[in-house]
Amino acid sequence: MINPKLQDALNKQINAELYSSYLYFSMSAFFEDKNLKGMAHWMKMQAQEEMVHVLKFCDFLNDRGGRVLLDAIDKPPAEWNSPLHAFEEAYKHEQKVTALINDLVDLAVSLKDHAANSFLQWFVDEQVEEEASADEIVQNLKLVGEHPQGLFMLDKDLSSRSAPSLTAADGE
Ligand code: FEO
Repeated sequence: MINPKLQDALNKQINAELYSSYLYFSMSAFFEDKNLKGMAHWMKMQAQEEMVHVLKFCDFLNDRGGRVLLDAIDKPPAEWNSPLHAFEEAYKHEQKVTALINDLVDLAVSLKDHAANSFLQWFVDEQVEEEASADEIVQNLKLVGEHPQGLFMLDKDLSSRSAPSLTAADGE
């Protein structure tokens, strides 16, 4: 049976991951509106990846005899000043999620919950990737600056991102 404190914290993380998905769906809609189809696609794939994270947390909580309890999801912003601004916000958001994951690890360690600590290490590694991929696009957008041709090329490049598997159990 999982410690109630850890159950609460994991349920809060499920809400944070759902919000992440919601935020990236909103960014996808923003890029669709700007006719930047590649960026819209990238954000849609990112939103789906966040749902995989949700499923992983739910599966773990259920496997440990805990109870998944869903809360209201905050409304995400709908507008950003530019593609660069949107990706900068995505990068900042991932940094916040990394801090949340680190707090969860600290809690699991303090409760001597080795299984939770082991489970959370996947997310520790994942966050390195999550931050790096958002930051890479931020840097690319800074290089592109105001050049429409560069933006067009970058948008095309981002359209090739493949879909994550939506099953939580396959290590995606
Ligand atoms: Fe679920 Fe983007 O962290």
